[in-house]
Amino acid sequence: MTDMLAPLGDLAEFAGRWVGVGEGHYPTIDSFSYREEIEFSPSGKPFLAYRSRTWNAVTGQPMHTECGYLRQTASGFTELLVSQPIGLGEIYRARLEDGCLDFETATLARSPEAKPVQEIRRRVVRRGDLLTYDMWMAHADTPLTHHLHAELRRA
Ligand code: HEM
Repeated sequence: MTDMLAPLGDLAEFAGRWVGVGEGHYPTIDSFSYREEIEFSPSGKPFLAYRSRTWNAVTGQPMHTECGYLRQTASGFTELLVSQPIGLGEIYRARLEDGCLDFETATLARSPEAKPVQEIRRRVVRRGDLLTYDMWMAHADTPLTHHLHAELRRA
């Protein structure tokens, strides 16, 4: 396992499986809670494969899912690439500082039939075995507003 993590540098701290719960809200929808599992899988190369799956905390029904990569660039940036089944593709860049990745959208690609999401911001923080994140989005007539907060523990 150590060999697999070696090319990741500081990103190695995110490798593994994380499970926890989240809360979602937005001015135009009802608030909701969810369970989540996130995997950052090492490959022996300088990236982690990323997958998030969520379920309704009350009914257990599957909710949002997304996948992508977390990678270290040659210039020392951390990039998160995300593909969403609702017709969105995202590329973010940030410097990893003290376990915190404060991402602003560098690129957002949208299918002509995707919801009119104009901007997404994500902040991911790892402290020991606790992984938390927040997500804000600008959608339709609503400016950048908080949508999600989740807390996961290393499984
Ligand atoms: C609603 C985007 C992640 C659950 C929405 C809406 C958008 C959106 C555009 C429509 C708001 C409206 O109609 O006014 C996103 C994006 C996400 C994300 C871009 C990730 C970056 C999640 C996650 C969950 C979730 C992780 C649950 C685990 C919901 C629910 C609604 C909603 C329940 C309201 C019902 C619906 O429109 O389907 N989201 N969302 N979202 N989102 Fe998210």
